[in-house]
Formats: sequence, structure tokens, C-alpha cells
Amino acid sequence: MIPLRQNIASMKGYIPGYQPPDIASWIKLNTNENPYPPSPEVVKAILEELGPDGAALRIYPSASSQKLREVAGELYGFDPSWIIMANGSDEVLNNLIRAFAAEGEEIGYVHPSYSYYGTLAEVQGARVRTFGLTGDFRIAGFPERYEGKVFFLTTPNAPLGPSFPLEYIDELARRCAGMLVLDETYAEFAESNALELVRRHENVVVTRTLSKSYSLAGMRIGLAIARPEVIAALDKIRDHYNLDRLAQAACVAALRDQAYLSECCRRIRETREWFTTELRSIGYDVIPSQGNYLFATPPDRDGKRVYDGLYARKVLVRHFSDPLLAHGMRISIGTREEMEQTLAALKEIG
Ligand SMILES: Cc1ncc(COP(=O)(O)O)c(C=O)c1O
Repeated sequence: MIPLRQNIASMKGYIPGYQPPDIASWIKLNTNENPYPPSPEVVKAILEELGPDGAALRIYPSASSQKLREVAGELYGFDPSWIIMANGSDEVLNNLIRAFAAEGEEIGYVHPSYSYYGTLAEVQGARVRTFGLTGDFRIAGFPERYEGKVFFLTTPNAPLGPSFPLEYIDELARRCAGMLVLDETYAEFAESNALELVRRHENVVVTRTLSKSYSLAGMRIGLAIARPEVIAALDKIRDHYNLDRLAQAACVAALRDQAYLSECCRRIRETREWFTTELRSIGYDVIPSQGNYLFATPPDRDGKRVYDGLYARKVLVRHFSDPLLAHGMRISIGTREEMEQTLAALKEIG
């Protein structure tokens, strides 16, 4: 018998969205990737870092990602000591649990949101408590004083789409005895964000990623913004070379090209609004979204039937078997052309 820890032996593990091997033959709308390529400055920076013979790759990357922290700090208006870079925001979510929740202690999050928080807690041996949502998109039954060590709030919420209002998050920060982590993976597609709460509350952490709005899911770059004491703690437990050289070069170039980012997000928001209207016109129920995805429910509330119909037509969306979500599908926003084809497929499926 392999002497596994009991919690590892009994856990299922997270199942990420399907990445088909023959990717070019699909309209891929299942993992909220960006349909547009990254900024041309990113490609230039990667090639420059690589050089003609790749010799730079012999040498370890900067362990502290200092340059990235400076560029991100300038962009967000924080000293670099308030910023930590991560190998995708998943890495920093993991390290937040490791830093703040010991075995047997509690972490919490909203269900439905990002179930990976639960997987990370299982690995740590932390207890998980989930909270539902009310009809007016607030957390159901959130205690006056929440004693869990970390509470994760996905805002905008994925897979549903709406953001939580700033005043409400501000109140949650006061009610959390432990850390309140605002997972702002989709913030760049939204009308507002809650970054200013990091300055207002010592227990607030904001996580961001370059995977979605910056079109860099394949490079694995995320970050967290929090008080320097929190950042220093996270810094102790991360892998010391967590961002490779090419990712570091890409990150600096991407963050510096804000004009490209804005235009890319504008196009996606525009397509999102167009697609929402079209879906409603064929009887779908669509939750207003602040992200680069929609949660849409067909008239017969059989999300799996429509998912299968789309799959047969080489359109890949995300269906969740969870009873709270099985009636609908999460559909990432692709290019206008991809969404027109998806709409035509939905009309055909009926
Ligand atoms: C809510 C949420 N948080 C975190 C992540 C992870 O992002 P990253 O690619 O930065 O690890 C995702 C990815 O889909 C997500 O949807």
C-alpha cells in the first residue's frame, strides 16, 4: 500500500475544462480563453528574450519577478512590496490557503463559483463551507462575523456573470475575521472592480490573472495585491522560480500595452452584449454578465441536451452536472464570427 495522506487518497481532484487535441477544428468556448491573440509587443518580447539560439534559457529567471512587480505596481498604483507574481492565479490561491488555513481549519466560498478553492482546501486538509446566493445576488446566510480563515469571493462571479457591488464587498471585509480574497480573474471585462479595498482593509487580497483579458492562459501568469505583510508571507511559500523567463518577458510587455488590452476587452464586451440580446430573442434566459462568458439557459431548461447538440457540431461550451447549474451552460465569448456560428447552431438545435 502506498502511504498516502487520507485526504489525498479520498479526494477526486479538480477536472479542468476539456482541451481538445484537434483544437483548430472546434469553436472553443469552454474555458473562458480570449479569442484574440496577445499584444504583438508580447510576441516581440518573448522572441527577444529567447534570442537566436535560446541561450538565455540556460540561466534561471529572476526569482523575485521584481521588474514585473514594478510594472504591475505602477499600473495599479501600489508599491511593488504590495504585489506578488504567480504561475497563474491558481498558484496564489493555493498559497493563500497554505498560508492562512491550517489542517482542520475552515475556508469558505460561494457556490456556485470556482470549485478549485475546494480542491485546494482538500489538499491542505482544511474544512470547506460553501454559501449559496440569494435572488438579488447576495451571499445567503453569511454570518455577521465569519470566523473561517479565508473566504474566496469570485467577482465577477464565474460561471454566473454578475459582480458584487463595492459597498457590499466592503461590508463583507468587515464581517470576515480571516482573509477575504477577491478573485478578480475577470475584472478587466467588468464595469468596476474592488481593488481599492486592499488599501482600506488589512484582510483583503485581490487576485488577478493575465490568462483571460491579456490572452495569456498558455503562459501561466497571475498576481496578488495585498498588504506587504501578506505578500511577504506568500513570498516565503511560493516556488522560488515560479515564473519562467519567457513568462516574465511576456508579462512586462502585456502590462505595458494597455491600449491593446482596452481594445480587446471592448470588442469582447460588445460581442457579449450582442450575443445576450440574440440568445434572449430565441427564448434563452441569460444572466447579465460582467465577464467574458454568459450563463445561458435554454427554454426547456435542459442544458445537457443543448451542450450535446453543440458538441456534435464542434462547438465546445461548458456544462456543469451540478444540480444548481445543470439547466444551463456557460458559454465563453469568442469572436463575433464564432458567436454568429454558435447562434446558428443553437437555432438549428432548437
Ligand atoms: C474564477 C477563476 N479563478 C481563477 C482561475 C485561474 O486562472 P489562472 O489561469 O490565472 O490560473 C480561473 C480560470 O478559469 C477562474 O475562472
